[in-house]
Amino acid sequence: MTTKHRLAIYPGTFDPITNGHIDIIERASVLFDEVVVALATNSQKTPLFSEAERLSLVNAALLERLPTRTNIRADAFQGLLVDYAVRLDAVAMVRGLRALSDFEYEFQMALMNRKLADGISTVFLMPHEQYTYLNSTIIRELAKYHRGVEEFVPNCVSQALRKKFEVRP
Ligand code: COA
Repeated sequence: MTTKHRLAIYPGTFDPITNGHIDIIERASVLFDEVVVALATNSQKTPLFSEAERLSLVNAALLERLPTRTNIRADAFQGLLVDYAVRLDAVAMVRGLRALSDFEYEFQMALMNRKLADGISTVFLMPHEQYTYLNSTIIRELAKYHRGVEEFVPNCVSQALRKKFEVRP
């Protein structure tokens, strides 16, 4: 009997990817045969980095931080997450739960996704406590005002942020 290849999708805007995201990706890579870090278009957000830049930063961050995890790859998709998950024959969608404040939004999204594709479960993972207060907005804000973000993001991301907010003469 062959067992099903268990592919999980970790969707997000990743504008930019942070150490908190990496922590979740690493945990998911232990639980699933394959993890696809999937860049989505969130219609309510106007990202600082273009889709191509965010994808390239996710790939660089994976190489920098999880070089031995060969079951992780990055991709980008348009449209509904469930349609993409069905196309990839995913068994699960992974989301991080950092605090109670994440719960309501995540609960609503998970229930709607389950209604749309009953066979694909949403799995919630908790990042390490040291990352519970992180989000991409805070990182962008710190970088914008030229504060160091090295302890919160991979090196490739802090370099990209420095370049974005470079003061040009
Ligand atoms: N560590 C650090 N930060 C984290 C984190 C972690 N472990 N997990 C989440 N975050 C942050 C993100 O950086 C982001 O920060 P920001 O809002 O300041 O930019 C915030 O928490 C939200 O997380 P994110 O993963 O980016 O979610 P999102 O709300 O942007 O994305 C999608 C949600 C993309 C998954 C959702 O919009 C989607 O599925 N879109 C496709 C269309 C669709 O199917 N819509 C119907 C859904 S029912």
